[in-house]
Amino acid sequence: MRVILLGPPGAGKGTQVERVAKHLGVNRVSSGDLFRDHVQKNSELGRLARSYMDRGALVPDDVTIRMVMGWINAPEQAKGFVLDGFPRTLAQAGALAQAMNGKGGIHRVLYINVPEAELVSRLSGRLVCRSCHTPYNSKMSPPKKEGKCDKCGGQLYQREDDKPEAVRKRLQVYVKETEPLVEYYRSKGLLAEVNGGRSIEEVGKALVEAVTQQVHR
Ligand code: AP5
Ligand code: MG
Repeated sequence: MRVILLGPPGAGKGTQVERVAKHLGVNRVSSGDLFRDHVQKNSELGRLARSYMDRGALVPDDVTIRMVMGWINAPEQAKGFVLDGFPRTLAQAGALAQAMNGKGGIHRVLYINVPEAELVSRLSGRLVCRSCHTPYNSKMSPPKKEGKCDKCGGQLYQREDDKPEAVRKRLQVYVKETEPLVEYYRSKGLLAEVNGGRSIEEVGKALVEAVTQQVHR
């Protein structure tokens, strides 16, 4: 089973990706987390990615495609995967389709739809674990112990690109570069749209239902 989570910044992709992957018994990856790991290590790729990420712009397609395809093509992903944050341009979607050609393609694209005003409020309060990348929200889903991750005890921090100016830019980039993927995947009959404006629990349940329907089709 190969599944994509699609949606604007703050839609809840990172919050829900583990639940969907666990349900399917496959691994998952968040392209943003892969980039942030490189930034933390201060690798060459990390320095390049950071110059785009901090201002809310997309990292160039060639670099992103190479990095994510490296993960997808690893033997551990042979039984499937869930992708969060990739593809997010038509060029990335084309590269993914080509790579999956002859391997059964992509089975489902789960589109988490959330109104823009809600996205801004979610991102302004987000805190993320430096070790395992689990997202929290200071107002809506705070950690049990302030500043510490419930899952691994890691330190929580605010992402550089969650500052207001970068959030505005990310939302603009999303509309221009990524939103066209909604129609692209809808036209292929792969899209399942889920109302992401509900509670974390309700959205998670709806995503699992949407992906399960496909499994039994
Ligand atoms: P990335 O890390 O992918 O950021 P994003 O797409 O902007 O998405 P977010 O992580 O902000 O949102 P999310 O949907 O994961 O929301 P979350 O679950 O955390 O990418 C960052 C950067 O990396 C990009 O700008 C770009 O530079 C680069 N990049 C990455 N992939 C790339 C690609 N393919 N091509 C080129 N460049 C790429 O939730 C948000 C908040 O809301 C949290 O506080 C959470 O607790 C809360 N929340 C979640 N669900 C709910 C709910 N139902 N109710 C209430 N609160 C909720
Ligand atoms: Mg995320």
